Amino acid sequence: MHVAIDGPSGAGKSTVARRLAEALGCVYMDTGAMYRAVGLLARRKNVDERDDAALKRMLEGVEIRAVLSPEGQRTLLNGEDVESSIRNQEIGMAASNVAACPSVRRALVEMQRRAAQGCDVVMDGRDIGTNVLPNAEHKFFLTASPEVRARRRCDEMRARGQAADLPTILREVQERDAQDTTRKESPLIRAADAVEVRTDDLSIDEVVEVLLALMGRLP
Ligand code: DC
Repeated sequence: MHVAIDGPSGAGKSTVARRLAEALGCVYMDTGAMYRAVGLLARRKNVDERDDAALKRMLEGVEIRAVLSPEGQRTLLNGEDVESSIRNQEIGMAASNVAACPSVRRALVEMQRRAAQGCDVVMDGRDIGTNVLPNAEHKFFLTASPEVRARRRCDEMRARGQAADLPTILREVQERDAQDTTRKESPLIRAADAVEVRTDDLSIDEVVEVLLALMGRLP
């Protein structure tokens, strides 16, 4: 079984997808983490985040995996656990930049499809229902207002002990939305057959419950 969960940043996708995967006994795959790992690599190597040819060269022979282990989420860049280096706004923006480049998308989509082959997976991202897993049995598009999403990001960062300024985060959320929805290559868009769920006034538990009900999986 393949479940696709797409939507803008801060709509609650990753927490919901992880919980849904647990409830269904599926693997959870966070594709945003893979774009973040590419963004991190570009910053480390001083590669222009908008130079498609340079990024393509940079990715030759590179392996990226985003897996959930008993210790939590792990993002592996050539085997190195980079999880703690990618969860910040700066790398979020770098990820959004590299994600607009066709060769980056091609390389990551191929890794994602390969990883999903033959296993039950809940995958979250921006183009899962439209491009990575177009035949997924269940497709959801989670949304919330930019203000609610910025507030959630802010709370998440503060919970991790990071400094977070709400107006700055709101600006970055809006900037990233604009970039992700208007890019030429696989823009963030709801798949025609995806069910849209607005999460503004719902807790994580409630969203998971809504999705399980829509899948006919509630006891
Ligand atoms: O979900 P996230 O915030 O970790 O994603 C980081 C960036 O990666 C996001 O701004 C857009 C990009 N992305 C993408 O283009 N396609 C995906 N499937 C996942 C993420």
